[in-house]
Amino acid sequence: MTGRRQATLVDAIVETVREPMLVLNRELRVVAASRSFCQTFTVNPRDTRGKLLYDIGGGDWDIPELRLLIGKILPERGAVENCEVEHNFRAIGLRTMRLNARHLVYARGARTNILLGIEDLTRERIRQRTQDEMLQEKDVLLGEIQHRIGNSLQIIANIMLVKALSVTSDETRRALTDAHDRVISIAAVQHCLHAAAPGGQIELIRYLNELCEAMSQSVISNRQAIAIEVVGSRARVSCTTAESLGLIVAELVINAVKYAFTKGNMHGRIRVCYTAHADDWCLVVADNGVGQPESDAPTTAGLGTGIIRALAERLGAQVKTVRNEHGTTIAITHAAAGSDDAARMQPAAPRRTGRAAARIEG
Ligand SMILES: Nc1ncnc2c1ncn2[C@@H]1O[C@H](COP(=O)(O)OP(=O)(O)O)[C@@H](O)[C@H]1O
Ligand SMILES: [Mg+2]
Repeated sequence: MTGRRQATLVDAIVETVREPMLVLNRELRVVAASRSFCQTFTVNPRDTRGKLLYDIGGGDWDIPELRLLIGKILPERGAVENCEVEHNFRAIGLRTMRLNARHLVYARGARTNILLGIEDLTRERIRQRTQDEMLQEKDVLLGEIQHRIGNSLQIIANIMLVKALSVTSDETRRALTDAHDRVISIAAVQHCLHAAAPGGQIELIRYLNELCEAMSQSVISNRQAIAIEVVGSRARVSCTTAESLGLIVAELVINAVKYAFTKGNMHGRIRVCYTAHADDWCLVVADNGVGQPESDAPTTAGLGTGIIRALAERLGAQVKTVRNEHGTTIAITHAAAGSDDAARMQPAAPRRTGRAAARIEG
């Protein structure tokens, strides 16, 4: 290809591309500048042709990083790829650019040019920064709201407790204490969820461990020697599922603390176990207490049983209670249609050791 035809072709290509682009000769003088280059960086087209790259815009393009990329990296590596450079131009202010450069070889023995693409990322970066700032602000705000809700629930729970201590009727006292425990557990369920983004996923076993840790401090009195152990597989679930499972665990732990160790059992143990395989899962809460009384007919079951059944139904799971002289075991099982995996997930009885602790399997 002759030098003249070559120049015409380069001009035609550079004229058509939408990206800011320069074609330089070996002396780094401009052979062609794309229209978008001149527009984006407010350079007069007449001020480009034949000009040394670093002299364009009255020396505005004399950028140390550009000198390094074109003068050293390009000859050494044959190409410059996706290098981000920030530069404060006198005419247009601070700009973030992504630079790509490579040699253009036309034919054997022909002159070699350099193609320099300069993508202006400034707007995208500003948009990204604004978005990050807004997300951060949203997180702070969400945290603040959750903190306030938590405080409010705590205040409501304390008022109930104070009231429970001042009433004379045993029934009213029990009702107020129950309500206090429930409000505290709801506060704990929400508090432990706060680290996860709404609509996001959470590692269930860690969440349940944190929840049980919080509950063991609020519902187990100093006179009770009850340890809670959380074990299970390392599975992630949606925040909505975690919330429902958290509320179920809270109800069952409160039940165990309230009813299981009434015979002076000095080594009370509650074991929370979650196992999952594909879409099948099983949550088991077992204690080594006195065992639940025989009848669990809807008339004798309390509000807690109703709450657990409703939450399990929402999750598409079954509730099964095993009671004997070694304690009570409640299994909430979810089996995906046509699967018998969950049926194989057997509840394990609690052993007699330690205090609140988590063990993660798998
Ligand atoms: N872990 C347990 N050990 C012994 N008894 C239990 C246990 N969990 C529940 N119960 C018995 O089952 C009953 C129903 O519990 P629940 O439905 O939670 O109602 P509530 O806690 O409001 O009494 C309780 O009153 C208690 O007698
Ligand atoms: Mg209950």
